[in-house]
Amino acid sequence: MAEILGIGLSHYPPLSGRDEDMAGLLRLALDDPAIPAAQKDPANWPELMCREWGSDEGRSAAAGHRAALVTRFEHARKALDEFAPDVVLIWGDDQYENFREDIIPPYSVQAYDDMEIRPWAQADHSSNMAGRANAWNEPADTTAFKVRGRRDIAKHLVTALLDRGIDIAYAYEPLHHPGLPHAFLNAILYLDYHRTGFDYPVIAFPINCYGRRVISYRGFASRLDDVRDLDPPSPQPARMMAVGAAVGQIMAESPWRVALVASSSWSHAFLCDKTYRLRPDTASDRYLYDRLAAGDVDAWRAVSVSDLEESGQQELLNWFPLLGAMDALGSPTPSWSEFVGTDVFNSNKVFAIYQP
Ligand SMILES: [Fe+2]
Repeated sequence: MAEILGIGLSHYPPLSGRDEDMAGLLRLALDDPAIPAAQKDPANWPELMCREWGSDEGRSAAAGHRAALVTRFEHARKALDEFAPDVVLIWGDDQYENFREDIIPPYSVQAYDDMEIRPWAQADHSSNMAGRANAWNEPADTTAFKVRGRRDIAKHLVTALLDRGIDIAYAYEPLHHPGLPHAFLNAILYLDYHRTGFDYPVIAFPINCYGRRVISYRGFASRLDDVRDLDPPSPQPARMMAVGAAVGQIMAESPWRVALVASSSWSHAFLCDKTYRLRPDTASDRYLYDRLAAGDVDAWRAVSVSDLEESGQQELLNWFPLLGAMDALGSPTPSWSEFVGTDVFNSNKVFAIYQP
C-alpha cells in the first residue's frame, strides 16, 4: 500500500500582500454604511480585536500574524519534504475564477500538464490581490513557478472514482482562469514562502465552496444590505467526506506517494452575518477545531451546508474530503495541529498534519 500524507493549511490571500494591507477586508467592512455604527465602534469589540487593531488599524499586528502563519507553513513544508510525495493533490475553492456562468461543477479534477505560472499577472483573475504589491516585491510579470502536473495520476484517480460510482468531472486545460486559481496557487506560494522552489507535481481538485454565492456574489464580499438572487448550494459536507474517503483509498492502493492537502482558512468575516461581517465566527471554528484535534470525524459528518453558511465557513468545505480520507485510512487524529486565531485579519487559520 502506498503511503498518504495529509495536510491542512490556509491560502489567505493577504499573506501574499504587504502588512499595511492585511486588515483591508475589515477596513472595507468599517466603510459599509449598512453595518450598524455601534458594531463598528471599537469600544464594543472583543479584547483580541481591540488588541490587534491597536492604534494603527492593525498594521503592527499584521507582522505578528504573518510570522505566525509563515512558521506553520515552514512546518508543513518540512513534513512535505520529509515525505517526498510523487504528487500533491489540493482541495481548494474556485471563487468565480475558473468556473463561471457557463458551468459550475460541484467538484472536479484538473488533470493539467506542466504549466508556467505568472502569479501577479494572473492575479486579476483571482480574488482580492489584483493590482496590489506583493510580499516578495516580485515584478508584475514574474514567472515565479513552473508547476508540474501528473495527468497520468489525475486520469487514474478520475477513472477509479467513476469505477466506484462517484461521478466526477475532469479537465485537461483551464476554462476561464489561466494557470491556477488562488486556493491552489497561494498554497504553493506559501509552502515556498522562502522561494527555494517547489518541484512537486500538483493536481488541483476544485470544490464549489461558495455555492449560493458563487455567481450571485462572484464568490466574494458585498455590502451587508446587498441582497441578490442566490444560486443553488454547494455539495453537502458529508458527501465531500465520502468523496475524500474514496480518493484516500484509491491513492493508498496506487503505486504513488500522495500528499492530500486541504487549502482554506476557516470562518471568513466577510461571509459571516452574525458578526456583522466584522470578524469570524470563532466559537464555531473552535468547536470544529477541538473535534478535529480529537479525531471526532462524526461531529464533522453532522455539519450541513447551512451550518457552514451561517458561520461564514463556506471555504471549510475544502477540509471535509481531507477528514474523510484520513478517517477511511484509519488515522482520523492529526499528528500535529494548531489554531491561529484572529479577529482583525478576516479568518481564523488552522494547520494540521496527518502523518502516514
Ligand atoms: Fe478562497
